[in-house]
Amino acid sequence: MKAVLIRTFGDPDGLEVVEVPAPVPAPGQVLVATEAIGVGGVDAVIRRGSLAAYGFREGHLLGSEVAGKVTAVGEGVDASWIGRRVWAFTGLSGGYAEQAVAAVEDVLALPDGLTGADAVTLGGSGVVAHFALERAHFTPGEAVLVRGAAGSIGITAVQLASRHGASAVAVTTASAGRGARLRDLGATHVLDRTGHGGPDAPAGFDVVIDVVGGPQLPLFLDKLNTNGRYVAVGVVGGQPPADFGMRLMDAFRKSLSFATFSSDTVPGPDRQTVRTSQFAEAAHGDLRAVVHEVLPLDQAARAHRRMDAGQVFGRVVLAP
Ligand SMILES: NC(=O)c1ccc[n+]([C@@H]2O[C@H](COP(=O)([O-])OP(=O)(O)OC[C@H]3O[C@@H](n4cnc5c(N)ncnc54)[C@H](OP(=O)(O)O)[C@@H]3O)[C@@H](O)[C@H]2O)c1
Repeated sequence: MKAVLIRTFGDPDGLEVVEVPAPVPAPGQVLVATEAIGVGGVDAVIRRGSLAAYGFREGHLLGSEVAGKVTAVGEGVDASWIGRRVWAFTGLSGGYAEQAVAAVEDVLALPDGLTGADAVTLGGSGVVAHFALERAHFTPGEAVLVRGAAGSIGITAVQLASRHGASAVAVTTASAGRGARLRDLGATHVLDRTGHGGPDAPAGFDVVIDVVGGPQLPLFLDKLNTNGRYVAVGVVGGQPPADFGMRLMDAFRKSLSFATFSSDTVPGPDRQTVRTSQFAEAAHGDLRAVVHEVLPLDQAARAHRRMDAGQVFGRVVLAP
């Protein structure tokens, strides 16, 4: 089968299309013939070699999120899965391929009306957005800021905060065009990457959901209202400065909270429950998955160049 692996760490030219044997489902796994493959920010981080210390080596086959039809099952898996269209999490490898294996507990049948591209755009990120707002103890009437809102996590967080009655939903983005599209999805205020908006932008927020991290994170801690909660879910802008905790302590009397959040800490069945309901909402058009572009699998490098150039709104999807 055709697959894409990292021949050399670094820029997207190091990705290579190869012919490899199709995987065989182990006990507890299903085999999926892929129709859509999500291209995530974490794939770019692995491609650059930034996670080599965590065991990611050159030769790694990228990809963690696919949709397609189950064609075989491993020992112990109900054969009725065969022939069903599913979304599947493949771990942090094996997704950029014509066939991929996944543990059956990380597989979900797709509802009628949901495209594979929409499923791989929403499947992983929608759950992060949902539980990050829950972790922030967000309640209706509060003001929310989503930092790095133009990615698939932020796009869902904006829609959820808006729909659940936020008094304001501000977003950061470097692009006026992306800001306009975020307004269509429920954003009420558009700020630049340093947090500056128009004169009517809220001065403070009860909740910040941050996909970016990076050196400017302390600027956004300063935007929390008294009793405000900050939830860091990603680091697309790099790690925050080592002394950012001092900024938090400087605001001691505001009773601020800072949390990191990884969906890995949510029990699998809880993730699947939320994913099931988000997929149903997306199939009915009540929740929007934003697919930036669908490219052929053998153009994975082009997809990564788009991401590296900051040209993506939502998610790029590969199709075998
Ligand atoms: N917590 C979890 O469980 C979990 C799960 C999966 C992934 N993640 C993490 O989430 C992140 C990816 O999320 P995503 O796919 O939604 O994001 P993304 O699409 O990679 O990026 C979101 C937006 O951030 C802005 N941005 C990029 N670089 C920036 C910078 N240096 N400074 C300020 N803004 C910047 C860009 O928008 P503009 O250009 O419009 O500003 C971009 O569209 C990764 O860090 C990944 O590891 C977390």
